[in-house]
Amino acid sequence: MSTQVQDAQNQSERDRVIIFDTTMRDGEQAPGASMSLEEKLELAKILEEMRVDVIEAGFPIASNGDFEAVRKVSEIVTESTVCGLARAGVKDIDRAAEALKPAKRGRIHTFLSTSPQHRDFILNMSQEQILELITKSVTHARNLCGDVEWSAQDATRTERDFLRRSVEAAIKAGAQTINIPDTVGYTYPTEYADMFRDLIENVPGADTVIFSTHCHNDLGLAVANSLAGVQGGARQVECAMNGLGERAGNAALEEVVMAFKVRSDGLRQHTGIVTEHITRASRYVSAITGFPVQFNKAIVGKNAFAHESGIHQDGMLKNASTYEIMRPEDVGQGATNLVMGKHSGRHAFRDKLKALGYELGQNALDEAFTRFKDLADRKKHVYDDDIIALVDDSLARGAERISVTRLRVIAGTEGQSAELTLTVDGNAHSAESGGDGPVDAVFSAIRKIVPHEAELRLFQISAVTEGTDAQAQVSVRLEEDGRISTGHAADTDTLTAAAKAYINALNNLLLRQEKTAPEPLIASGF
Ligand code: KIV
Ligand code: ZN
Repeated sequence: MSTQVQDAQNQSERDRVIIFDTTMRDGEQAPGASMSLEEKLELAKILEEMRVDVIEAGFPIASNGDFEAVRKVSEIVTESTVCGLARAGVKDIDRAAEALKPAKRGRIHTFLSTSPQHRDFILNMSQEQILELITKSVTHARNLCGDVEWSAQDATRTERDFLRRSVEAAIKAGAQTINIPDTVGYTYPTEYADMFRDLIENVPGADTVIFSTHCHNDLGLAVANSLAGVQGGARQVECAMNGLGERAGNAALEEVVMAFKVRSDGLRQHTGIVTEHITRASRYVSAITGFPVQFNKAIVGKNAFAHESGIHQDGMLKNASTYEIMRPEDVGQGATNLVMGKHSGRHAFRDKLKALGYELGQNALDEAFTRFKDLADRKKHVYDDDIIALVDDSLARGAERISVTRLRVIAGTEGQSAELTLTVDGNAHSAESGGDGPVDAVFSAIRKIVPHEAELRLFQISAVTEGTDAQAQVSVRLEEDGRISTGHAADTDTLTAAAKAYINALNNLLLRQEKTAPEPLIASGF
């Protein structure tokens, strides 16, 4: 190989941005976005197929559920690095190391706050104490794992000089990746880029590690800041599908990745992501968390490639480049004109799912096909959105202790009542109830059969398509003891959809492991 070719390859490798997905960790910290173990395993497979470099699968000390998730993801993932989060404490780090044992490539990600706000009001520690704890925690992590990432929580509000000293301590103790999180979504692009330049230029040993961005979206700048961080010298971007995450969320993986792909003329760096898997991953995350993707969301929103106005449609018909900077196929949204109806076969259905960005296993495909046939019997035209709602509905249901067996509702000017039969742990139970309206009657019948304390926090109905035969898509959010759970369902019968969505939320509340929100730091023990 000539030196020129070798140099070009080295440069290309240096310009490759590591994509670190934190949908299962930071993403799951969004209230109501909890995922079951099975869902996390499926998501890990999707992320690995998409060639995500690092999958942060959880926070092992936070709950047994998180521990199991990191352990099981470590067992099945072979190509991507699997990462577990830990505070700067012996127990946290040991627990993360234990969960990562089966991993072919495992990483402990340990963090400590550095900003004055966190030092004074949360940790009550001096700068010197923080530096000492960084050294101890990173050293301990390195003794247990060959790959250690250290994060300076609230880095962007930290005094620059102290941030430099903190990063230096982490590098000296053996961290190979240094993450500079914008924990509260406070920074702006030029400032963030400058922060990386400064650290890379001035911290001893900075040339031996990889710097990482981790941006929250409180000012809507998470993606712009992440790109700026890379311009400043970061080589890893932490992000989450659909921008899921604490508060306003994290930088959206799909936006970061497509920015590098579409603007490769101006942005030198590139990622290794197979972008055709993006839509599938986005839909899966939306289905299992119950967080809808906003219609106008960049890259993965329902309208991201829709052209309504006459001028735009005219341009698109002449040449797609007039109004599209990327092709829908590039992100896995295949264009199909296949109309589905009750005569459509399994083959056509599978092709349609593929074009819509779904690749289901045999059981899920069989179930979805049965439900499609059932829908096609009730509805003349089955549109793409109907199929998306139907598949998302199946994915969102997962394991169920309770299901709706029968529902009869009387509505109208003379009063409302519901007769409901639920199957609970395999046994049928029935109840009747009145209410202030038919939905209230249905929910009250549910509460008679399954008494619970959860409060209804959200009840939302939207039509999946146009027309009076459209399916209703219902979202329900319940809250019990600070735990939030969301459920979704779609059906041509609005009240059946409401009952199923409520039961879906209740199942999630019953089935999903409770996380004990860890204290900000002191699990120490050093
Ligand atoms: O936002 C943040 O600071 C984090 C750290 C734990 C990396 O999520
Ligand atoms: Zn975060």
